[in-house]
Amino acid sequence: MKNIRNFCIIAHIDHGKSTLADRLLQATGTISDREMKDQALDDMDLERERGITIKSHAIQMNHTHEGQAYTLNLIDTPGHVDFSYEVSRSIAACEGALLIVDAAQGIEAQTISNLYLALEHDLEIIPVLNKMDLPGAMPEEVTDQIVDLIGCSPTDVIPASGKTGLGVDKILDAIINRVPAPKGNPDAPLQAMIFDSVFNPFRGVIAYYRVINGTLKKGEKVKFVNTGRTYNADDIGILKMDLVPKKEVSTGDVGYIISGIKQANEVKVGDTITTVANPCTEAVKGFEDVKPMVFAGIYPVDTEDYEELRFSMEKLQLNDSSLVFEPESSAALGFGFRCGFLGMLHLEIIQERLEREFKMTVITTVPNVSYFAYLRKNPDEKLIVNNPSELPDPSTLEKVEEPFIKAQVITKSEYIGAIMTLCIEKRGELQNQVYLTQDRVELTFEMPLAEIVFDFYDRLKTVSKGYASFDYFPIGYKSSDLIKLDVLLNGEQVDALSALVHRSNAFNLGKKICVKLKELIPRQQFEIPIQAAIGSKVIARETIKALRKDVTAKCYGGDISRKRKLLEKQKEGKKRMRQVGRVEVPQEAFLAVLKLN
Ligand code: GTP
Repeated sequence: MKNIRNFCIIAHIDHGKSTLADRLLQATGTISDREMKDQALDDMDLERERGITIKSHAIQMNHTHEGQAYTLNLIDTPGHVDFSYEVSRSIAACEGALLIVDAAQGIEAQTISNLYLALEHDLEIIPVLNKMDLPGAMPEEVTDQIVDLIGCSPTDVIPASGKTGLGVDKILDAIINRVPAPKGNPDAPLQAMIFDSVFNPFRGVIAYYRVINGTLKKGEKVKFVNTGRTYNADDIGILKMDLVPKKEVSTGDVGYIISGIKQANEVKVGDTITTVANPCTEAVKGFEDVKPMVFAGIYPVDTEDYEELRFSMEKLQLNDSSLVFEPESSAALGFGFRCGFLGMLHLEIIQERLEREFKMTVITTVPNVSYFAYLRKNPDEKLIVNNPSELPDPSTLEKVEEPFIKAQVITKSEYIGAIMTLCIEKRGELQNQVYLTQDRVELTFEMPLAEIVFDFYDRLKTVSKGYASFDYFPIGYKSSDLIKLDVLLNGEQVDALSALVHRSNAFNLGKKICVKLKELIPRQQFEIPIQAAIGSKVIARETIKALRKDVTAKCYGGDISRKRKLLEKQKEGKKRMRQVGRVEVPQEAFLAVLKLN
């Protein structure tokens, strides 16, 4: 055990975590240069294409240092806020962390939020100044930022480059010399914390864990403490580039278990594995059921594909336990599903996977957060509203609550004004303002989560010219003056376009939505009024003029094949159109509310 080192890599997105991990794998001979593909750890196609790590992975490296053999377990963590719970569990499985900071960018919001997570778990922090090869690298300045942030000495900061391999040996030395060996008692009852799981179509769920105490033996009967389920430890072992089966995995080590679990949602990240014969008395602390933060309806473009969509969603859920869904129906869109996601990125990923892996064409409705509604006649009962069109009649409501977040923005001082204005417009309240260096500021706001869902990232990027990074975490529900804004097309209310908005924004938003929809919905044979309404009161209106002529009219008497081509072209264009009443509505229109500025 004294020669084991468990560490993770934490960084702001794109600061070069995966690339540096690849260099460590090469330097320790875990992967040969020939086998080396860029970002070997990101094995999903989608990950590779988007260049982001979606699920965290673990890998064991062997390294000899001053004549002694060491086992280094690297736990890779996802960098995006949508997956921050996974980051926290990965961190809890380690004793040390490489804190990677891009030398050309400096400290960013997730550098800090991930660092706080690591410090909460008392990890030894090894700061790494990455991308030193870049001409724009600012080593002194960024080293100062790091020193200020974690209170280390400038000599503790390792200059490195994932591209050239600079600093890789120093990093390996630091892991061995500075990260403490795991503690724990190999003779105690088994206590292993699951920090990740993946779904394999042939073998079922593979859970990754860190053994805190005791030893797990192949074939033993095990129990997952929080779910209460028991399994047989059919296959256990350690993780190299592949799974390496072992007879036992002991205290301090990181391993996998395969036990015939067919559904991803049976395995919860953060849960504790123990044995049935000699169970531990306590689960590992910090277990949380991950809750979806953002909801949206997903509907098949063609109503006949509903069953196929259900099948596809079920398949997806098998390997993504954070996806939740239930059937819903919409007067406008027919039968579909209300789905819960960890965040907007997660939503996009699911939509993309449905299309790529399952060849489904779907319509996604306006995303929203989850609201709590309290009725006047029974104010103690909390109703959970995941779909704005299900909000009870306002006259019966005592109050409505919405989720709030604490948001951290790091930026250059010249953009403070613009960012403050944006945050205030988004109903944010400034809590704190701290200068990290002379011209870098950390701003802390409390604001409604719903405002983040609605185009916040894009706006932040624009007003700060890209010089702002952002992170957030939920802080609970608060009551808000929310009302339901409805949209009527051709006189008919379209439930899939309803949104809950703050009363003070309703008029402004209603107007903007009508204008946007007018842009997005193509002209048709008849005039289409677009109206925004609160209850029965119309607050805004635009009109889409009728098309003057039938598009095919000019072909009459002409070449028949030309006409057919034209019709086919139209059909192509219709792929993402949904018939709502008499009106053809394109997919973009359902997301119009997100793109109003
Ligand atoms: P996530 O997994 O999405 O959080 O990103 P990451 O932090 O793992 O970053 P990644 O390793 O994917 O690198 C981001 C980008 O920076 C890629 O385009 C890399 O090629 C580039 N990059 C990484 N390290 C270096 C480096 O040392 N020098 C230079 N010049 N580019 C680098």
